Amino acid sequence: MNSALPKTPAANDDIIATDKAAVWHHLSPHQQWDTKDPIVLKKGVGMRVTDVKGKTYLDATSGGVWCVNLGFGRERIAEAVRQQLVDLCYFAGSYATEPGALFAQQLLTKMPGLSRVYYSSSGSEANEKGYKMVRQLAHMKGDGTKHKIIYRDRDYHGTTIGALSSTGHEQRTAHYGPFAPGFSSFAHCLCYRCPFGKTYGSCNIECARDLETAILREGPDSVGAVVLEPITAGGGVIPPPPEYFPIIQEICQRYGVLIHIDEVVCGLGRTGAWFGYQHYDVKPDIVTMAKGVASGYAAISCTVTTESLFNEFKHNDGNALNYFRDISTFGGCTAGPAAGIQTLAILEEENLIQNTRDMGDYLMDQLYALQEKHPVIGDVRGKGLFVGIELVSDRTQKTPVTEQQTAAVAGHCLENGVMIGRTNRSFSDLNNSLYLSPALITTKTELDEITTAIDAALSSVFSQQ
Ligand SMILES: Cc1ncc(COP(=O)(O)O)c(C=O)c1O
Repeated sequence: MNSALPKTPAANDDIIATDKAAVWHHLSPHQQWDTKDPIVLKKGVGMRVTDVKGKTYLDATSGGVWCVNLGFGRERIAEAVRQQLVDLCYFAGSYATEPGALFAQQLLTKMPGLSRVYYSSSGSEANEKGYKMVRQLAHMKGDGTKHKIIYRDRDYHGTTIGALSSTGHEQRTAHYGPFAPGFSSFAHCLCYRCPFGKTYGSCNIECARDLETAILREGPDSVGAVVLEPITAGGGVIPPPPEYFPIIQEICQRYGVLIHIDEVVCGLGRTGAWFGYQHYDVKPDIVTMAKGVASGYAAISCTVTTESLFNEFKHNDGNALNYFRDISTFGGCTAGPAAGIQTLAILEEENLIQNTRDMGDYLMDQLYALQEKHPVIGDVRGKGLFVGIELVSDRTQKTPVTEQQTAAVAGHCLENGVMIGRTNRSFSDLNNSLYLSPALITTKTELDEITTAIDAALSSVFSQQ
């Protein structure tokens, strides 16, 4: 024991002070902690978490960022992870482990058409692996020209420089440049704010066709892949129109462009299907996932590919460099796949994907009712237990409310013991959406509690309007 280490503080005030003195929090302007305390969370059971001061919150965010899909306090997952750590905590991914092999096999049964799982430890990293595969493929099959990746406006693919280079959130990316070359964007698909000024029903799905414009602009010989969230998450919860993905698929086929679907948020049940892309008619070449894979009980991410993509790296024509020369050190942690095996089993045994569909429908109905009552609700959209509520000060002009007002709504809910999400410094004038992503175990009782809190918050924050 190192006697110089400080003792673990016993009193709640001590831990708050310790946190304030030592931790640099994610996504947080730290000046706020000069005048108030951070919420230090101590215990979670089901959908409720309790802080060190004894206040309990209903969590409508699955751990803040759509992660803890099975709820807190799952002893079964913890026990499986504990046993795995005792048996074999880690080995580098150039070796095999039992949970790694078994989880990959079980995961692939949910992903017809895909057949290889590459492990890493975060969503950003899983996406970077996909990008590296595309770039290396361009070198193996040609002179490296066909390496560019097209991404969609309002999508987010992670925090690393490569992932940020493919992110369409101007405030998230601001000041972090210069970015990696070889990335270029095309239009988002939010009908409520159509980038082409069209109306769904009388449009030609210009948003999907804009991918072709981007490919032609960059030069088809230079474009290797398009990366897309199946449903944009942090960029506003944006499900595409039903015609969208078949058009994307057709364009990609025509120009020999791979489809990389980022399921980091949608993966494993969140939208009421195993994967978000499975709602749509599309055959991805690469699928990445992270948050829900082990429901937050361990860090794990996966880059899943087709067998034909994998084979490009297997048959290397004697070239010493033509295999995937990549490693993720913590992709070799066995806790991730051990927790993933339990996550898959619980999703099936408790019929949680069906529950997500049923409860998602109920939640949408409740929110449409709130929209009738509150003119500030401009749009409600989502799929399954993955919902965005866009707030506007004027429905006709669709004038967004300010980020401060959106934060005030979330803050009012928090005061009243309900945690909801919101757009967090992503866009210069569109940080105006509230996000709901309750755990997939939710019942109508919790959903009623959540909508009641939002109802009260909207009444309070916008009472002067
Ligand atoms: C769609 C999407 N992709 C990738 C990421 C990055 O994942 P991570 O934070 O685990 O690197 C996120 C994180 O929120 C995300 O929402």
